[in-house]
Amino acid sequence: MSEHTPTGAQPQEPTGSEPVRLDQGHVQGSGGIPERFANPGLPPHVLRNADLDEKAAKRAERQVAILFLLSILGTVLFLVAYFMVDVQTQVWVPFTNEMSLSNLLLGLGLAFSLLGIGLGAVHWAKTLMPDTEIVEMRHPLRSSDADRQGFVDTMLDGGESSQLTRRPLLKATFGAAMGLFALPLLIQLGGSLGPLPRNDLSVTFWNGEKGKDGKYHPKKLRLHRDPEDTPIKPSDVTIGSVYHIQPEGLLELSDDLLNEMSKASVLLMRLDPTDFQETDKGRKAREWGYQGIVAYSKVCTHVGCPVGLYEQTTHHLLCPCHQSTFDVTNDCEVVFGPAGHPLPQLKIAVDSEGYLIAEQPFQEPVGPSFWERG
Ligand code: FES
Repeated sequence: MSEHTPTGAQPQEPTGSEPVRLDQGHVQGSGGIPERFANPGLPPHVLRNADLDEKAAKRAERQVAILFLLSILGTVLFLVAYFMVDVQTQVWVPFTNEMSLSNLLLGLGLAFSLLGIGLGAVHWAKTLMPDTEIVEMRHPLRSSDADRQGFVDTMLDGGESSQLTRRPLLKATFGAAMGLFALPLLIQLGGSLGPLPRNDLSVTFWNGEKGKDGKYHPKKLRLHRDPEDTPIKPSDVTIGSVYHIQPEGLLELSDDLLNEMSKASVLLMRLDPTDFQETDKGRKAREWGYQGIVAYSKVCTHVGCPVGLYEQTTHHLLCPCHQSTFDVTNDCEVVFGPAGHPLPQLKIAVDSEGYLIAEQPFQEPVGPSFWERG
């Protein structure tokens, strides 16, 4: 045995089934683990006051009832506050200054209502409800063969006695009625998912008006400063400047103005033409612009916030919502953040009077990468 064993103590080699004392020096194990651990069983059940004394039980009953009563009063207070207290009435409350009396009473009423039920239920369970541990043995979940056969027989008997099996017309119409019965529920569910995909994000004010043939006939609209609503010339756009642009005529709309504005808004920037990257995308961005001036949709392709920052040195556009960053020198490719697509570019040119115009509408849907893009 260990030499560290205190004198007088004769530790026994643990058998694995008894607890081992650790306050008597080292313990030398037998080198194996027991085959089975003994079931420690449940601790002995201790009777509570309310189990032993009827008076204590009555007292507990009264305490629970008081808590439920508190809940009832809380609910009444809530209803009174809701229907009878003027929402404009203010009251001074320590530490919070003035607040609406109605809000205060609604909050207190709801708090007491829920708290009373919660505390009452817990107190009831701890003092009066049975607290003995009960074990329910597991049994096979599968029904016996006899029960299963009994179920089948019952169903067949039911089908036979209702004559469903002998009358196919009844069977078909009953099945159809029951199947169709679920349709209104499914339709409501489907209807509440929102509008079906359309081309809302593919068509903007830059597409022009819809003709009688159902097609859009783009006009080469001028780029107008927003909100001044004045046309802009290339000479106005110096290197490093950014203009907020709307299509000519949009601000005169009377219907759906905000929606159309948000879809059509464009950022106009001028770069040194040598700043564009010598990649396919960079070359395309330069070609769709005019002397280094480029126009891109202002609607972020992540979830549609307005792109709000332009960093002149790096030529990056940044969306403040989730920090998506677009590289203007490479066709507004996403260089950082959650956006899934580059910002769509508006191809621009100059009209006979020297004003910037859109050569064509956006060639892809603007805005978020939702299913409507498809
Ligand atoms: S909306 Fe622009 S990054 Fe999320």
